[in-house]
Amino acid sequence: MKFVVTTSHKPTKEEVLSARGLADELGVKYVSRGRLNDFKKDYPIDFYYVFDKNGQLSIRTGDSVFFFHPGMSKVRYKNIKLQDSDYLIKSMELSGDETVLDTTFGLGNEALLIAHFLPEGKVVGLEASEHIYRVVSHGLRNYPYTYEWIREASTRIELHNRDLRDFVKECPDASYDIVYCDPMFDRPQMSSNSINPLRPFAMYERISRADVDEMIRISSKRFIIKSRTRDTLFEELGLQFDKLCGSKKSGVLYGVVEKR
Ligand SMILES: C[S@@+](CC[C@H](N)C(=O)[O-])C[C@H]1O[C@@H](n2cnc3c(N)ncnc32)[C@H](O)[C@@H]1O
Repeated sequence: MKFVVTTSHKPTKEEVLSARGLADELGVKYVSRGRLNDFKKDYPIDFYYVFDKNGQLSIRTGDSVFFFHPGMSKVRYKNIKLQDSDYLIKSMELSGDETVLDTTFGLGNEALLIAHFLPEGKVVGLEASEHIYRVVSHGLRNYPYTYEWIREASTRIELHNRDLRDFVKECPDASYDIVYCDPMFDRPQMSSNSINPLRPFAMYERISRADVDEMIRISSKRFIIKSRTRDTLFEELGLQFDKLCGSKKSGVLYGVVEKR
């Protein structure tokens, strides 16, 4: 895909420097915002990165803007407080000092929720898409958090731009307490507005049974994988789950394989 890096309109010197630095790292052109429209006429691009005024990094494609925001973690946290109900958190059975490997990080909204329940532990995240990784890792560090619990949770997250299928093969047996996997659904839930702008950049290749066996091998307590109830992933994998957590209403299931 062809892309460039720019800033918002009337940028500060720092914003220009940050944008130039990112363009160098990514090996693409920096184009000043004032020249962007003319540039696009001569050199068609698929999208562009923007270093925004508020220190945020976003990617713009046509009318769509992809940026980091912890919106869904806030909603789910509120539900936990109101009715003690979050199937993912329940299925994890956290003590608070675990190291959780989130192999499909995306926007990191579930990782933030998990990290909140790990005051003595941490979340290690993997994201295969370079563009999602860039935007989300920048966002995790620079987002203007209004909720202290989210800011604090973000400090217990370590994110890597890696494909889980290569990463897991390098890990010794039982190297993480819990391994979690939330691959892209085969039938996208288009009402999921929070994840829609991420879709053009996401990795869609199906997770195989061999990948799952590796994820189970490197977990010491449990392995958890998410699927929509209408998705065929669980059937394809042919896994024997110890527990299925979820609800018909949300249409989402968490399959749990216990290690002890
Ligand atoms: C459904 S989203 C995860 C959403 C995430 N649980 C959240 O709360 O924001 C799946 C993410 O996993 C990434 N992904 C898919 N396959 C991957 C792989 N093999 N290795 C690493 N990341 C992968 C996709 O690019 C996408 O960003």
